[in-house]
Amino acid sequence: VGGKREHWGSRIGLILAMAGNAIGLGNFWRFPYQAAKNGGGAFMIPYFVAFLFMGIPLLIIEWAQGRYGGRYGHGTIGPMVYLQTKEKTGIKFARFYGALAGALALSVVVLLNSYYNHVIGWTLGYAWETVTGNYMPKDVDTGAYFVGYVQDPARVMVFWLITLVILWIITSRGIQKGLERLAKVAMPAIYVFALVLLVRALTLGSPVNPEWTPIKGLDYMWSPRWNELNWSATLAAAGQIFFTLSLGMGIIQNYASYLRDKDDIVTSAVATASLNEFAEVILAGTIVIPIAFTFLGTEGLKSGVGLSFIALPNVFREMVGGRLFGTLWFLLLFFAGITSSIAMFNYLTAFLEDEFGVERKKGARFVFGLYVITGLPVGLEPILTKTAEFAYLTELDNWVGTYFLVLLGLVEIIAAVWFFGDKGLEEINRGSYWKIPRWFYNLVMRAITPLFIAILLVFSTLDFVKAGYFKLIPSFVADKPTLIPWVLGARIILALVFVLNYVLTYRSLGEK
Ligand code: PHE
Ligand code: NA
Repeated sequence: VGGKREHWGSRIGLILAMAGNAIGLGNFWRFPYQAAKNGGGAFMIPYFVAFLFMGIPLLIIEWAQGRYGGRYGHGTIGPMVYLQTKEKTGIKFARFYGALAGALALSVVVLLNSYYNHVIGWTLGYAWETVTGNYMPKDVDTGAYFVGYVQDPARVMVFWLITLVILWIITSRGIQKGLERLAKVAMPAIYVFALVLLVRALTLGSPVNPEWTPIKGLDYMWSPRWNELNWSATLAAAGQIFFTLSLGMGIIQNYASYLRDKDDIVTSAVATASLNEFAEVILAGTIVIPIAFTFLGTEGLKSGVGLSFIALPNVFREMVGGRLFGTLWFLLLFFAGITSSIAMFNYLTAFLEDEFGVERKKGARFVFGLYVITGLPVGLEPILTKTAEFAYLTELDNWVGTYFLVLLGLVEIIAAVWFFGDKGLEEINRGSYWKIPRWFYNLVMRAITPLFIAILLVFSTLDFVKAGYFKLIPSFVADKPTLIPWVLGARIILALVFVLNYVLTYRSLGEK
């Protein structure tokens, strides 16, 4: 089975690729508004707790699970979980459990990326809008401008398709010549752009209110406000850890499947997690929060999803050199997005390659077509409904961008540390410079981390029930009749994708 699989060419290439996988729009676009919306300093406390007790251990476990699968010619989660599970249980259960894990992961990589690619397209489009100065005149309302942008088929479709073509070409070239090379160019670019923006952010003065200094903005994020610490901030923080480290998606395992058998795991995983946190907390936190704060105050910080596309353009047109810095900002988002999205693109390509013997170039072409089809509704909703509500995107994001990650995290960790037993620890430590001690494996990786994820799952479920997401017609569209079909459509597609992937994975497991 499997044939000869590719490996990463160098340690630095591997680390940069893994960092590229993790560092994405989650860091620069999602984190700042999550932190701002959930009380700033109050958010950072559960955030770091979740990082240490859930994020880091699960990340190491995912690396080990992936390298293990790669040894047997597999780059996707279904067969990995299947092989680990059957060490403990009967074949029948292992097949069901592997297929469940595989189907969850495939649903995430198909559907999460279907809208993520659009957001990447917007970032490229907005780099263009900024460089050409389109929204720079003072009488342009940046909110209305964004709505106009997403309702304009020409711009939306063109920049999205450019994104998909880039992903396709790079994936076709394979691991070393494609993914690794991309990381070696894009990652340094991201850090350089970010440092330039950081210096600019910290030297801003507020044109509106002299009290709004960049430092006061940072203060907002860094002073713990214990009284604002609540369940929803905690859930959001733990959810952000999942998203930002690319946990519960299967793509870490996929990248790790191209490791050599004795490659270090513990040190490398900790290194990439640190690079991700540096980009998220230090760089993104110190760029976006001060910029938004100096120009817009705490209200600006609360502008949510629109922070990058609506609030920041407002700032770019006022600040000295804004056209340059704004363009850098959107290019930074673009590079960060592409190096993450490519991991999902490669996951699907590897699935076809490893499990069905489809040649890489052909597989990548197929995946390109798949993302065109699954991305269409995301782009069409604003155009056809003349809204900018993104009900279809929101519905998908709630399930595959939030809930499924935690669910898959739980399913895979049980296979890796319980069903696989002590072999799980051997697998982590083989070739590692830092060894995980047995007590840590037993106490943290087999108990605290799974428990943490299980509790997160329970509370996320309660939260979802409360928010009305489990209703046939979820509450957030109940009073918006034109959007209901889009949400129901998202659900039907999700169900189809899940079932189809379950069957495909289940069958591929049977042949082994
Ligand atoms: N870790 C990524 C991020 O922070 C999450 C992601 C990976 C999303 C791949 C989409 C595709 O953005
Ligand atoms: Na990230």
